[in-house]
Amino acid sequence: MTPGSDIKNWLLSNFADDVKFNEPMSRHTSFRVGGPADVFVNPKLREDAITIINQAKKINVPVLVIGGGTNLLVKDTGIRGIVMVLSDLSGTIEATPCELNKVIVKADAGIKTHALCKFAMDNGLKGMNFAIGIPGTIGGSISMNAGTGLGAMEGVVRSVDILSETGQLITVNKDELNFSYRNMSWADTNPTGSFKPIIFSGTFCLQKGNRESVKKEADELMKSRNINQPVSLPNAGCIFKNPAPENPAGKLIDLAGLKGKKIGDAQISEKHANFIVNTGNASASDIIELLELARKKVAGKFNIKLETEVQIVGS
Ligand code: EPU
Repeated sequence: MTPGSDIKNWLLSNFADDVKFNEPMSRHTSFRVGGPADVFVNPKLREDAITIINQAKKINVPVLVIGGGTNLLVKDTGIRGIVMVLSDLSGTIEATPCELNKVIVKADAGIKTHALCKFAMDNGLKGMNFAIGIPGTIGGSISMNAGTGLGAMEGVVRSVDILSETGQLITVNKDELNFSYRNMSWADTNPTGSFKPIIFSGTFCLQKGNRESVKKEADELMKSRNINQPVSLPNAGCIFKNPAPENPAGKLIDLAGLKGKKIGDAQISEKHANFIVNTGNASASDIIELLELARKKVAGKFNIKLETEVQIVGS
């Protein structure tokens, strides 16, 4: 539902510094594409974020909370309702030793995933290197169960602070969360069933290790990522999930002969075929057309159905 003037006026009177109207989402996505959000809010205080979400819910205005916009394809027509980012909330990373060789690290949702990896590296903590080079924020990474061939968030998350369906901030332990390949939901016991919660912070269980060896491994992973992935052009990471470990999407699209294929300014990367890059002024529809082409060619050649990993949103 498009927000009416009542909520717009309420937002302006209470959170004027944090609100924009008709804000192009191309400014907030790593793909650098996407039409306008009716309302875009970047609250500075956690309480304000919660107040806005709860108020919008009360009057049935949809709120989409996004992380770093790094795994997101926003359609050219934009997003109806409110888009909220949590990256301007003041955030911290704190470590507390627990059992013998373990440390619990708490990080707020708006913090960059890379900052958590660096914190772990600087403190000689093992466990986060799988995420080296994954762009985006802690909230987005947990929500998408972000990962690589070396691991995923589910391997390190211990608990999350989320907004419950009734609008309260609650802590949920990992065993109550449903993690699956690039997805996470809360197996809530209430009658409405499982839902995708808004995450405000997470705790992670890491192991004490050696600073130099954690750093060495991280440097090598970063080097390999820079060689194998198109890091210098706007993109949203891997477009498709890997249908199976032995059939990575990049290899299938490559074998379908699509490397370098362009529609408008959207191109299947020459470096890695599971990436689409924006070589200039690509539109979301160029990208969608290109990913549909990849899906069709791979289905035709291998009889394998590719599923998008990137989240496609918008009206
Ligand atoms: N390959 C090709 N052609 C290509 C690309 C890849 O033949 O154009 C082959 C490679 O040679 C390799 C295999 O496909 O044998 C797998 O490629 P790669 O090692 O690059 O890993 P991937 O499965 O394509 C995964 C994650 C990436 C992550 C890398 C590095 C998924 C969908 N992708 O890619 O994550 O960065 O491992 O660990 O799980 C992301 O999630 O956005 C993402 C990019």
